Formats: sequence, C-alpha cells, structure tokens
Amino acid sequence: MERPDRPATAPEMSEDRKSPHVDIRWLKDIERVLITEQQLARRISEMTQAIQRDFSGREMVVVSVLSGTVMFLADLIRHLNLPMRLDFIGVSSYGAGTESGDLVFTKELRIDVKNRDVLLVDDILDTGKTMTRVLEKLKALRPRKIRTCVLLNKAARRVEDVKADYIGFEIPDYFVVGYGLDFAERYRNLPFVGVLHEHVFKEVQKSPYRK
Ligand code: IMP
Ligand code: MG
Repeated sequence: MERPDRPATAPEMSEDRKSPHVDIRWLKDIERVLITEQQLARRISEMTQAIQRDFSGREMVVVSVLSGTVMFLADLIRHLNLPMRLDFIGVSSYGAGTESGDLVFTKELRIDVKNRDVLLVDDILDTGKTMTRVLEKLKALRPRKIRTCVLLNKAARRVEDVKADYIGFEIPDYFVVGYGLDFAERYRNLPFVGVLHEHVFKEVQKSPYRK
C-alpha cells in the first residue's frame, strides 16, 4: 500500500514541544533552532522512501540546485537505494541579499536528461521564482518526467504558481539558515535549521528579508 508522503511541520509550530536548545557556539547569531538534526534525519529518511517508491524501475537523474542543497542532498541520496546519476545546476540572483531578483544561471547541466526521470532538488521554496525558472529550463530538455523535492516550504511567500512534489517541512515566514542554507554565504555549516537574530541582518545595513 502506498502511503502519502506529507511534510512535517516545523517543531516550533507544535504546541507540545518547546523550542530546542541553541548550542553556545551559535548563541550570538542564532535566535532559535527551528528544526533539529534528529528531526531532519528522520524526515529525510521518510522522503527517501517516498522517492524510491515513485522512481523505482528506471535509472534516475538527480539535478540539485547549488549551493543551498549540499547537506540535504548528501543525506537524501546516501539513503536512496536506486540507480542514479547526479548533476548540479547553478542559479544566482544579483546582489548580496536574499531576495530572488533577476536570476542568472551560473552552472549548466552536463548530463543529458532527455527521456530521463529527473528529480529536481532545492533547499527552499520561497517565492517560487527559482523553481519556476529552473523547471522551464529543464522541461525544454524534454525529460520523461520531472518531480520536485525541497527541504523547506514557505507557502506564505509564494508569488509563482509552483508546488513541490516532496516537501520536508512546512515553515512559517522566517528567514532561516543552516543545514546548507545561507545568509550572505554564511551559516551553511550549521547542523540544524535556525532563525537568525535581527541584529545580524542589521549589521549588513539592510534587511535581507523584507516582505
Ligand atoms: P525563491 O526563488 O524565492 O523561491 O527562493 C529560492 C531561493 O532563495 C532558495 O533556493 C534560497 O537560496 C533562497 N532563500 C529563500 N528563503 C530563504 C531563507 O529563509 N533562508 C535562506 N535562503 C533562502
Ligand atoms: Mg541561497
């Protein structure tokens, strides 16, 4: 029997759990931990099983968006018990902030995905502009099928009409870092997903995340 794969809700949202403890190393910059290492590991293993059910029988191509997917991708594919090939696509928006403005491709695919089963992996679905642009580009290469997979979904921020087929966690409208996600290229190495303190935004003289 196939069970539907549903995203987990960020821990802070569930009333029965207190916000997890922030390690002293990160206290200066991180206001709170939103998703712990253990919660990430458990959810990613569930996602891997759902992907395995949907992609079995054919060799798949995993296309991962640089650079925010590094940790998520590594954990996802190390448990994926399927034949696969891996490629990366680079997308970047102008400026040092985090708003997705004009997008430019900084790295093109090398694997030919024509008639292939493709899993597109990104770190977070926010406005949806990045996913929309990358999907347009991939669809033009005529794969047999495309499914989309994101660790985090901020549905409240959506501008484009785009959804992900596999979602790790639904999160509220916070700017988050860690587990691959950055603020001005920093904090990617945190083992958890956390919320940045306001003062970190202010230090760069500009809020990275305006509504
Ligand atoms: P979108 O194009 O607005 O959907 O944004 C997608 C990209 O913006 C992601 O791949 C991230 O690189 C970045 N992004 C959006 N929200 C966040 C966040 O809360 N933290 C870190 N990066 C983010
Ligand atoms: Mg980014």
